[in-house]
Amino acid sequence: MTTLHRAAGERFTLHLTLNGQRRSGEAEPRMLLCDFLRHELQAFGVHVGCEHGVCGACTVLLDGRAVRSCTQYAAQADGADIVTVEGLAEPGTLNEVQRAFAKHHALQCGFCTPGILCSVTHFLRDTPAPDEQQVRDMLSGHICRCTGYAPIVAAVLEAATAIRKGS
Ligand code: FES
Ligand code: FES
Repeated sequence: MTTLHRAAGERFTLHLTLNGQRRSGEAEPRMLLCDFLRHELQAFGVHVGCEHGVCGACTVLLDGRAVRSCTQYAAQADGADIVTVEGLAEPGTLNEVQRAFAKHHALQCGFCTPGILCSVTHFLRDTPAPDEQQVRDMLSGHICRCTGYAPIVAAVLEAATAIRKGS
């Protein structure tokens, strides 16, 4: 029986790769991926805001693509490769995007930041030389109540340049 065809309430074990490490945890069929990552695997960098795919706070990388983990069941991630904000750089270091966010004060309370950083990672991989409008279009999938977005846009554009120079 696959993980997607379990009876309601039946608990089962999921196996996936989280930030480069093989991890397992218990889930129920209707458990959301964001809740599984936070409550079973203690990936507390996964923030949960709206819980219906609007705010972007829960965004993680699933097999390299940015996804909203509140719109996926945990069962759908069985066997997947997941990266959360905790896995974007080596522990104790910052990558180019994170350094640019710090330099431009692109976060205040930080609630939106982990999801935005995951989306930016995917975005810059697909769009290494974005213009401002492309960055704003990407950010339209994220709600930030603090910054007014301008410093985030500046940080993403600077990070794109830094990544291109470093590659
Ligand atoms: S908590 Fe997932 S999009 Fe808002
Ligand atoms: S920094 Fe507070 S919501 Fe974005």
